[in-house]
Amino acid sequence: MNASSQPVRVDYELPDFSRVGAANSVQHAWARVPVQPSPEESAALKSRIAELLRQKNAVLVAHYYVHPDLQDLAEATGGLVSDSLEMARFGRDHAAQTLVVAGVRFMGETAKILSPYKTVIVPELEATCSLDLGCPTDAFTAFCDAHPERTVVVYANTSAAVKARADWMVTSGCALDVVRHLKDQGKKILWAPDRHLGAYIERETGADMLMWNGSCIVHDEFKAFELEALKAAHPGAKILAHPESPAAILALADAIGSTSGILKAAREMEATTFIVATDNGLMHKLRTLNPGKTFIEAPTAGNSATCKSCAHCPWMAMNSLQGLAEVLESGGNQIEVDPSLGQRARLPIDRMLAFTSQKTNAGIIPNIGAA
Ligand code: 13P
Ligand code: SF4
Repeated sequence: MNASSQPVRVDYELPDFSRVGAANSVQHAWARVPVQPSPEESAALKSRIAELLRQKNAVLVAHYYVHPDLQDLAEATGGLVSDSLEMARFGRDHAAQTLVVAGVRFMGETAKILSPYKTVIVPELEATCSLDLGCPTDAFTAFCDAHPERTVVVYANTSAAVKARADWMVTSGCALDVVRHLKDQGKKILWAPDRHLGAYIERETGADMLMWNGSCIVHDEFKAFELEALKAAHPGAKILAHPESPAAILALADAIGSTSGILKAAREMEATTFIVATDNGLMHKLRTLNPGKTFIEAPTAGNSATCKSCAHCPWMAMNSLQGLAEVLESGGNQIEVDPSLGQRARLPIDRMLAFTSQKTNAGIIPNIGAA
């Protein structure tokens, strides 16, 4: 990841997809990656932030993909490090008046929708997601209007306005269970925005799914041919993959799951070496929770490639200790969601939370087809 404080331009192209509902026109995104402080500066920032969190009756909720310093600080101050499903639930249920969400914008919006009377702040307002950017409200609304007979299921990685048009919201930790449940009720699905996750769920459930053509710029980069070569070099290793990865990667995986699902699989599987196809921010938790095991990043390029991507989300990387200290001091970077839009967007989220609270499955799905 670029360590300069200058803007980093991330270009990506979205391939043509035969069942696309509407063209995905987002070709460029911006991310500013902060300079990493020295160990002494980090320690000073952490104690300042801990004090500010106390003073402001605030709790820090962090995603597994943000910098290890932020993950450790969240846990040390009584907050949470987790996947997007548990972040949503924790923020809603916590007594703190201010929720500080270290992740990307849709996570802050979800927290605000679920807790409209709390203050929700984020270290970096421009930290977004290629899935959210690639699903603009107007085009998505037109797609839904063209298929009124379908139940609209959207991934958490979307704007509040897109959620407000949906019947259900899901995260990768519960998407399979929710779609299976809807299929059992005879429903046809309109799915957005991640085409890899959608195609995976369609293969697993046999549900009738009409797909939006979005993808994650991080998971899209994993390469199956090189993954096979890496696996051959580590024959005892098990492959763990996030379902935002392309189908060729998922076909090689021994377990497929959300970030929490991958952590659970690494803990419970007997292997001692794992190849992991997800954002490398998860390596921090994988390694600290499993000190006797070895974790290898899945490849994002082959030997002949002129450029290797870093398997790290540029928007997650915008979260920093400095940014967090500044917003806590200034009270800036508050997430606002129009109250009537928020009320409508809450319905699909509440539906998901009610559904998942009845389930104990934490998101691991054994990959029956894997070798
Ligand atoms: P999880 O729902 O597994 O936390 O994933 C969120 C995300 O953005 C993955 O890229
Ligand atoms: Fe979005 Fe991918 Fe970043 Fe997750 S890793 S926030 S899906 S761009």
